[in-house]
Amino acid sequence: MGKKILIIGATGMLGESVARRLNEDGFSIRVFTRDIHKARKLFGESFEIVMGEVTESKSIESALDGCCGVHINLSGEIEQVGVEIIASAAIKKNIKRITYISGTSVAEDTAWFPQTKRKLMAEKAIKESGVPYCIFCPTWFMESLPKYVKGSKAFVFGKQPNQYHFLAVEDYSRMVSVSYQRDDVLNKRFFIHGPRGFLFHDALKKYCSVISPEIMKISNMPYWLSKIIAKLGNKEEMKFASELMAFFEQVGEKGDPTEANLLLGAPIIELDEWLNQRKVKLDKFSAG
Ligand SMILES: NC(=O)c1ccc[n+]([C@@H]2O[C@H](COP(=O)([O-])OP(=O)(O)OC[C@H]3O[C@@H](n4cnc5c(N)ncnc54)[C@H](OP(=O)(O)O)[C@@H]3O)[C@@H](O)[C@H]2O)c1
Repeated sequence: MGKKILIIGATGMLGESVARRLNEDGFSIRVFTRDIHKARKLFGESFEIVMGEVTESKSIESALDGCCGVHINLSGEIEQVGVEIIASAAIKKNIKRITYISGTSVAEDTAWFPQTKRKLMAEKAIKESGVPYCIFCPTWFMESLPKYVKGSKAFVFGKQPNQYHFLAVEDYSRMVSVSYQRDDVLNKRFFIHGPRGFLFHDALKKYCSVISPEIMKISNMPYWLSKIIAKLGNKEEMKFASELMAFFEQVGEKGDPTEANLLLGAPIIELDEWLNQRKVKLDKFSAG
């Protein structure tokens, strides 16, 4: 297949690493962003950057010119509509491959949760477009852990009795890149789980022991309290994180990663290794 891939959401926490990995593996990257300055600051001159809004089909269509594939890394309420528009544009532009990040517990029986519903509808639009696709359904990323540390406190919402196979974004990015290098992966939905299962509480405890050793205790914040704090403080991020955790507490980590491991190469980065790498990076950064 051709070599240029449009990445929508490349400035996002999980899109950036995919963009860099695809580029290292020989693909040229075109970044689609609403904020050209943010993208330029992140990527310098290494990638072509185009400005646009995902709801404007004309800007998506022209961004797809000359691309063989499009990787979608969107979040929030725009996700369903955005993916529907991208899928229609991809048909028109004869795009050879769509890759998209969904989620491990996205399923018909969990569609009562609005984020799941949006992702499910987005997946439907991709499948119905007839453009060959790979849909990635990863579990919790290790990179999410810092979001549960605020100042001198670390907390999870609710009781979180389920285990999750935390995944490093580096492993995921490699798997997305492999998907662009094989044809036997097309039209599949891949569950991606990291090498080892942890209770959220235990993963966060490990995180704190390496990155923030002054934090000795992981608190469990009840949902009723997080609701009140989020509402009074107008804290959208907290509201979202708490609702997401309540969802996961109820449905757990779904999906079987066997096929993804076989075709894309299983994730190998353990939480301990990821934490050590992160610590080295943070130390280097603070040493200037
Ligand atoms: N964190 C996890 O553990 C986890 C696990 C499984 C799945 N996921 C899924 O992974 C996905 C990506 O997560 P993330 O953390 O990388 O998201 P993120 O950091 O919020 O990034 C979202 C990206 O979407 C782009 N975007 C948003 N609205 C746009 C619009 N109207 N037009 C064009 N671009 C728009 C943004 O680009 P610009 O600002 O540059 O325009 C940004 O780069 C989410 O759907 C999430 O559900 C996450």
